[in-house]
Amino acid sequence: MKAASSTDDFRQMAGTRYEAVKLDLQNHPRTWLVTGVAGFIGSNLLEQLLALGQRVVGLDNFSTGYRHNLNEVLAARGACPELLTFIEGDICDLDTCRQAIVGVDYVLHQAALGSVPRSIEDPVATNRANIDGFLNVLTAAKDEGVARVVYAASSSTYGDHPGLPKVEDKIGKPLSPYAVTKYVNELYADVFASVYGLESVGLRYFNVFGPRQDPNGAYAAVIPKWIDAYIRGDSVYINGDGETSRDFCYIDNAVQANLLAAVAPREHANTVYNVAVGDQTTLNQLFEFIETRLLERLPNLAKCSPVYREFRAGDVRHSLAEIGKARKGLGYCPTHEVGEGLGIAMDWYIQCSRNK
Ligand SMILES: NC(=O)c1ccc[n+]([C@@H]2O[C@H](COP(=O)([O-])OP(=O)(O)OC[C@H]3O[C@@H](n4cnc5c(N)ncnc54)[C@H](O)[C@@H]3O)[C@@H](O)[C@H]2O)c1
Repeated sequence: MKAASSTDDFRQMAGTRYEAVKLDLQNHPRTWLVTGVAGFIGSNLLEQLLALGQRVVGLDNFSTGYRHNLNEVLAARGACPELLTFIEGDICDLDTCRQAIVGVDYVLHQAALGSVPRSIEDPVATNRANIDGFLNVLTAAKDEGVARVVYAASSSTYGDHPGLPKVEDKIGKPLSPYAVTKYVNELYADVFASVYGLESVGLRYFNVFGPRQDPNGAYAAVIPKWIDAYIRGDSVYINGDGETSRDFCYIDNAVQANLLAAVAPREHANTVYNVAVGDQTTLNQLFEFIETRLLERLPNLAKCSPVYREFRAGDVRHSLAEIGKARKGLGYCPTHEVGEGLGIAMDWYIQCSRNK
């Protein structure tokens, strides 16, 4: 492949790679297990896989996911509901994992308890789902002989390492129980590769956002929570001074990374990749992005100012990904920057708020 000289070149080249992968999957459908399929990322993976005519086994215990996410995907134009076999069950039960994985080619493992604050309040529950559950999925995958497990790792693994941008091989000490669990996932995946020969790829997601991301509850992510609060006329809280930054990643980029990781050549497996855009956005900038797009769509909405409050325990100050490794190893190329992604997702967020 020739070297890219600009962002547009990258887009085109990686687009070509992703297009080729999708075409191949369409021509040779595989069977996929998506754990956490009723959640935000899992349901978006399901949507893309069904659109490509893949057979999907979905596993979820609805602890943070919703049946309506599945229904929304299955009701979409062009979806083939008959391609999904859904199992309501818990990854903490090894037999359930074994049952779900029979005949599966690729596992896209998303099931976990997300959220740093949740893990600080209940580290035992987070540990159970994120470590015990993960170990069960790996064990079932090894015994079934699946081709590869792609799993949701996390940017939280960078912990207190001050370096920016974040490069995969330079991590610090974890800052929360959640971050510990995600790092332990990487350690287990490595050991399963070396001891049992199970192939895997870890995707360190950086603040993924988009349709079907839950705006509700104490542990909701910042983007859906702010949009919902803004529409309702509630206070929009910013933790800290608003200069905390993140590399916000639109969901389509994360879906692309999963599919590319599943079929990447073996020499690019058994490692971890950052999945982000490679762009830094402060919370203050994010608020402006959201406000602009909301007011474009809902011009009668009362303008609001954010309310600044204490920094949140366990949060890293800045996060920005170096995505060169994923570009080279997987052919990954983010197709949506933060503003673009927000523009696309905004109508869904507004609808979601209205339906409450
Ligand atoms: N969204 C992000 O920005 C982000 C960032 C880094 C990592 N991640 C990771 O990506 C994955 C997906 O995150 P998400 O944002 O879609 O979260 P989500 O909460 O929307 O989805 C997780 C899904 O897993 C299911 N689940 C949880 N525990 C389970 C269990 N024991 N058995 C079966 N199902 C279970 C939930 O019901 C839910 O449907 C998680 O592993 C998360 O840690 C997400």
